[in-house]
Amino acid sequence: MTDNSSLAINRALRQELEGWRRAGLSHLPMAPRKRTAVTPAATSAKPTATRNPPGSKTVSRPMPPTAVRNASRPAPVTLTHALPVASEPLPPSPHPAGSREDREWRLNQLRQRVAGCTRCQELASTRTQTVFGVGNPEARFLFIGEAPGADEDAQGEPFVGAAGQLLNKILVACGLQRDDIYICNILRCRPPGNRKPLPEEAANCREWLDGQIAIIDPEFIVCWGATAAQNLMGTEESIGRLRGRSFQHGRATVLCTYHPSYLLRNPAAKKEAWEDMKLFLKQAGLPVPA
Ligand code: URA
Repeated sequence: MTDNSSLAINRALRQELEGWRRAGLSHLPMAPRKRTAVTPAATSAKPTATRNPPGSKTVSRPMPPTAVRNASRPAPVTLTHALPVASEPLPPSPHPAGSREDREWRLNQLRQRVAGCTRCQELASTRTQTVFGVGNPEARFLFIGEAPGADEDAQGEPFVGAAGQLLNKILVACGLQRDDIYICNILRCRPPGNRKPLPEEAANCREWLDGQIAIIDPEFIVCWGATAAQNLMGTEESIGRLRGRSFQHGRATVLCTYHPSYLLRNPAAKKEAWEDMKLFLKQAGLPVPA
């Protein structure tokens, strides 16, 4: 195939997908996760928090059957805001597909695009820098928050302020480390005064979020707060109704809980958030603290 014809096919495909996206489709079903051969050793092995422990080869993990069985659907809403024109696909990575190097390379490409993004004029003109995301590119778990705050805007990393400190404590209580997760937000720029992201801003940033999800290909996504959950899944259901259930988003199982900032303001809700964390650990096949 010539370069020109493959570019034309690429463009036609992207236009078709954009049409579907504008019609309200948030994702297309993907091929099922490749399953590892079930050997006696594989069945008795305990799932680990990290997809590929240091020194191991890239492996695909089966999804826990409970996660799939319990998946439900939130009530959808119709998108009313305009979506930006999607950018060109990333250039092909020089590394073996799915390897750590490949994921790092593609995340870096995406990061560079995000750094130059000016889709939201107000945010682009008030931010100190974009806050892309951080963590293990091979993580089983992707955490999604709302948007960078003042500390994140200053440091260029998500969840480094007070909410991040609480998130760290929750991770420790779950027996997890920052390296077990990848973390990003619905928005990659700080909204002035930490206001809630506008629907157009979330739509503008969606390509970057979808790109990160596609590269990391997590088994589980944890949405921290209503903004993350509602934007990811295109629903207006409250966080109180979304928590305690699991949803399917592409190949990932999604669980939702309260945002750490909300927990800082409403410590009584920590009990429910802890129940949500225990559900997450159980579905991920990890030890659940008593
Ligand atoms: N709150 C968020 O939702 N994300 C951050 O990165 C920091 C605070």
